[in-house]
Amino acid sequence: MEQTEERYPFHNTFRIEGGNFTHAGSVSSQVKRILKEERFPNSVIRRVSIATFEAEMNVICYAHWGILTLLVFSDFIKVAIDDEGPGIHDVDQAMTEGFSTASDKIRELGFGAGMGLSNIKKVTDEMVLTSVVNQGTHLEFMVKVFS
Ligand SMILES: Nc1ncnc2c1ncn2[C@@H]1O[C@H](COP(=O)(O)OP(=O)(O)OP(=O)(O)O)[C@@H](O)[C@H]1O
Ligand SMILES: [Mg+2]
Repeated sequence: MEQTEERYPFHNTFRIEGGNFTHAGSVSSQVKRILKEERFPNSVIRRVSIATFEAEMNVICYAHWGILTLLVFSDFIKVAIDDEGPGIHDVDQAMTEGFSTASDKIRELGFGAGMGLSNIKKVTDEMVLTSVVNQGTHLEFMVKVFS
């Protein structure tokens, strides 16, 4: 009898609470665990984890709440994050290395170097950032499994 294993695609969603630094990084840890269980190459897991962590922290630092969607395919991994919050009035400026509007509180916690979004761009194969001021921000990125 022919055996086929239909593992992919699948998706998971995770809620991220703005301002909740106690659980900072918990969503990206869960994503990392899922990808490890699926035995993706370490380099792929590392890149997705870095980008997911930066995206999660931005929701915690700047937005009210957000939903992260993990889409797993056999040959690529896609992550989308939609948040409700103040939005970003100048996306190009936000993408610039070193630009940050982080408060003193956020800086005391070790964030706010203005490197998160540019890091996401660096470690992913595709990245799209769009935002509506006073509504929220949409970020999605993709990492190829074989590049
Ligand atoms: N989800 C978001 N909602 C609103 N503003 C955001 C969001 N994500 C990023 N920003 C804005 O874009 C700026 C740059 O973000 P980026 O992640 O590159 O740096 P940072 O968060 O300030 O510092 P770092 O990521 O190095 O800790 C932020 O300071 C903030 O003004
Ligand atoms: Mg950031």
